Amino acid sequence: MDRIEEIFLELQFSSIRFAEEEHLVLSLRDITERKRNEQEIRNQNELLRLSVDQAEAASRAKSLFLANMTHELKTPLNSMLGYAQYLKMPQLGSLSHRQTDAVSSIESSGRHLLKLVEQILEYSRTEAGRIPLDRTDCDLAGLIHECIQGFQHVTRSKEIELLENLPAGPLHVNCDQTRIRQVVDNLLTNAARHTDAGGRIEVSLLEGAENVLLRVADTGHGMPAEDQERIFEPFEQSVSDRTRKREGAGLGLAIVKRIVDMHQGFITLQTAPGEGAIFTIGLPLR
Ligand SMILES: Nc1ncnc2c1ncn2[C@@H]1O[C@H](COP(=O)(O)OP(=O)(O)OP(=O)(O)O)[C@@H](O)[C@H]1O
Ligand SMILES: [Mg+2]
Repeated sequence: MDRIEEIFLELQFSSIRFAEEEHLVLSLRDITERKRNEQEIRNQNELLRLSVDQAEAASRAKSLFLANMTHELKTPLNSMLGYAQYLKMPQLGSLSHRQTDAVSSIESSGRHLLKLVEQILEYSRTEAGRIPLDRTDCDLAGLIHECIQGFQHVTRSKEIELLENLPAGPLHVNCDQTRIRQVVDNLLTNAARHTDAGGRIEVSLLEGAENVLLRVADTGHGMPAEDQERIFEPFEQSVSDRTRKREGAGLGLAIVKRIVDMHQGFITLQTAPGEGAIFTIGLPLR
């Protein structure tokens, strides 16, 4: 049997006055094509919405898996580190030089692995939306000064100059202090990692009309243009790092960006190979 095609007709009534007489005008229009297009758009929108829902659910599941998995990895890793330290205790008898070296290698690799696991755990927690912001009215100038003081030993040991250019008085911003500390520490760690002895890192804080601008500038080796968007994505590192010894997991800036986004702020980067890097973070004043 032939399929019966559905058609849509639009009937319109109107009246016109012609030659002193009122006339009724009846028009019939085939709007099947328009109706089909509308239905097609509705179907596509529904499909799109379902795909977005599925992608979001998959992303949440991935972040949750990573968060749980890394948490589980930390327990045996801490125990291994504890036993490595225990082996070095004189009460257990003395170790030969070669044995002490081997235990030290286990310890330092274990610590490196623990740091990576902690970074992954931290990132997946922020991604899974598990860390709500704990906002308070805080003095950003004081907070950044403390971060810089706490970082002096790193730059001193690397013979890098660490300068601060902060407002003389307090600068109040509504933010999550622990998270902002994490942002500053990550930027300082990166700057120190990519700057050679004799170089300089300068941290500045400026008050704009709507935002406070936090700037971390270094005189290190910088990055080519092609890396400048990519490095804010998780596990991404600059191509210039491929020739160097990799120290991190490539998660620090992804965490920084996530925290800045959660504060409705922004982050920008100015850099070129051999010309250092300037990371600027804007946080809304109100
Ligand atoms: N100040 C900088 N100068 C030059 N390159 C930088 C600088 N900061 C970041 N980068 C580049 O961006 C990459 C990503 O930085 P990110 O902090 O996300 O990861 P990481 O430092 O490699 O590892 P992690 O922070 O997880 O320990 C770095 O690997 C490096 O290539
Ligand atoms: Mg880093």
